[in-house]
Amino acid sequence: MTTNPIKPDPNGPDRQTWDPASYAKNARFVSDLGMPVLDLLAPLQGERILDLGCGDGVLSKSIMDAGARLLGIDSSTDQVEAARAKGVDAQILRGEDLPFDGEFDAVFSNAALHWIADQDAMLACVWRALRVPGRLVAEMGGAGNVAQVRRSLHEALRRRGIEAETFDPWYFPDPEAYGARLEAAGFRVDSIDLINRPTPIPGSLADWLDVFARSFLAAVDVGEHAALKAEVENAVAADLCDADGNWTVDYVRLRFKAVKAGG
Ligand code: BEZ
Repeated sequence: MTTNPIKPDPNGPDRQTWDPASYAKNARFVSDLGMPVLDLLAPLQGERILDLGCGDGVLSKSIMDAGARLLGIDSSTDQVEAARAKGVDAQILRGEDLPFDGEFDAVFSNAALHWIADQDAMLACVWRALRVPGRLVAEMGGAGNVAQVRRSLHEALRRRGIEAETFDPWYFPDPEAYGARLEAAGFRVDSIDLINRPTPIPGSLADWLDVFARSFLAAVDVGEHAALKAEVENAVAADLCDADGNWTVDYVRLRFKAVKAGG
């Protein structure tokens, strides 16, 4: 049985928050690049599917367009409102608090599971929410995800005398560790792959940090944010920024299909 690393609670006082407008501007690539995990889900007409961490509902809509009966859940009130505005049936719920029992043919998740502090509690909820047979199909950050950016964030906080681990909400496991975690939760793992996916981003790395690294920024005063972001940009620019100022972040995905089988 794998144990949980001690992680800060993303729902705690320094939690990551989401602003749908800046998400749409600086993070649309997250759903745009979701096609491979949607293909792995292969939703069928009439299936009841839960989208765990539905965000603003763009991929939920794609699943609905395939004829599935979809429920989206997200811990962000603003993102749930943005999803509802797109016609998605969405609820404010954390992955560790799912109340469902044997209701879903599939649970889907894109770019959300790495924010969840208590992975084993979440997987137990997902397992209970599924019918037999039912599948969990997901993509999350995998081992080495955004490693250069993360290391630079840690160094910038450490230079200020701050223990960066306290403000780091991300969990990026390797396939062996996560496969073992899935099996411990009762799943049969049909596939689990680590995929390097260097990802061009639409704006500057500072913009990306504003959207995705809020809990690190919360470690310093607002007046210090610009300096912190500039330090991170300077530390990684040689590797992640081209001569024209285009940034490519060192994303690594963990994509898997795990089944709640009978017997
Ligand atoms: C990800 O989707 O891999 C990710 C998103 C935000 C921060 C870190 C990783």
